[in-house]
Amino acid sequence: MAEKMDAKLDYNVKAEKKVDSSKKLRVGIIGCGWIAGAHIDSYKRMADVEVVAGCDLIPGKAEKFFADNGVTGVKTDYASHKEMLDDESLELDAVSVCTYNRQHAVPAIYALKKGINVLLEKPFTVTLDEAIDVMKAEKESGKILSIGFQPRLDANMQMIKKIVDSGELGKVYYIQTGGGRRRGIPTPFGTTFIEDETAGLGALADIGCYSLDMVLNAVGYPKPLTVTGYKSDFFGKDPATYPGHPEYAEKFGVDDFAAAFVRLEGGIILDFRIAWAMNIDTPGDTIILGTKAGLRIPSTDCWNGSVGGPMKIYKTIGGVDMETTVPIINESGSLFDKKIRSFLDAVKYNGKAPVPSSQIIYNQAILDGIARSARAGREVEITIPEI
Ligand SMILES: NC(=O)c1ccc[n+]([C@@H]2O[C@H](COP(=O)([O-])OP(=O)(O)OC[C@H]3O[C@@H](n4cnc5c(N)ncnc54)[C@H](O)[C@@H]3O)[C@@H](O)[C@H]2O)c1
Repeated sequence: MAEKMDAKLDYNVKAEKKVDSSKKLRVGIIGCGWIAGAHIDSYKRMADVEVVAGCDLIPGKAEKFFADNGVTGVKTDYASHKEMLDDESLELDAVSVCTYNRQHAVPAIYALKKGINVLLEKPFTVTLDEAIDVMKAEKESGKILSIGFQPRLDANMQMIKKIVDSGELGKVYYIQTGGGRRRGIPTPFGTTFIEDETAGLGALADIGCYSLDMVLNAVGYPKPLTVTGYKSDFFGKDPATYPGHPEYAEKFGVDDFAAAFVRLEGGIILDFRIAWAMNIDTPGDTIILGTKAGLRIPSTDCWNGSVGGPMKIYKTIGGVDMETTVPIINESGSLFDKKIRSFLDAVKYNGKAPVPSSQIIYNQAILDGIARSARAGREVEITIPEI
């Protein structure tokens, strides 16, 4: 099912296409599954957006999706993303790529080569090579590519970065991150998250990418150098995990747990673990250790890239151990709206991608490194070419 990428395809590059900010933005949706619902909800709330097209590989799914969401006048008679992106009459300014992981790179590259701005759902891709190909297309097109990490826009997440940037922690040298669910393999809508040919990676990419972004963004996305990784699938392969659907165990082709030890540029060690299923309440909070202070970020039950409670800063002043509580910031407004709005504003006003590929390539390199190391059974180096 995963389509092979062909860099030699004639994409009819339209890099010179500019957005007229006085007009409504013309948006398309590629992949009309579960997360596309969150995209359409947000687009519906944006007065300067017209969703003009949508497509899905499953016949009739896009049409039903827009009808169910009460959006009319949307063109959906496309058998694939290619047919939709080839339709010049749509005059698309941007697309949301809401396909499963194995189909992130192909439509994103095709859209960029067509001169269309792309909001690509997380994780960036499955492999590092795919992410590099998407970045090459982004660079050639001059268009905006933003990766869908909405937790970045949460005030509590931003507080973590503010604390690190303030210098309060001193030099950061060790980070422990990750989290997980006791039982939470995502199969409520079918098996696209657990099959290798659609998902490619399991918990590692699905929720692991969030916990990596939480800490890497805070410390300025240092380059990853080496990784020792581990993956397992004990719960995913057990029929008892799926009451009513024991056949899912056969289909399970990804990881339900991953752990890694990563060396980052600047002498930072990253200790990581993530689980869709495990026999413990939490594999630990996120901690960031610095030479002047340490920060504890409580984990959540369902690890989805959020702060689980008030954070604490640990410091010793004049020989006295002290703790400062960082209260939870309660903000109104949907993070998804913020994600979509920040992307659209970048498109409209020639801004920069809110979550740029130049950072997320390091996140992807770590996911890819963990998968490679787990396969090889030893530490591997991470090499990212100049793009
Ligand atoms: N940001 C978030 O909070 C969040 C939450 C859930 C999922 N996601 C991400 O969104 C992606 C999709 O997740 P989902 O739950 O919607 O999956 P899903 O399986 O419900 O939907 C994906 C849809 O994409 C379609 N599709 C695949 N390749 C296509 C192509 N080339 N052209 C047209 N349609 C294509 C499939 O047929 C399917 O209907 C995943 O990568 C996931 O990690 C993000």
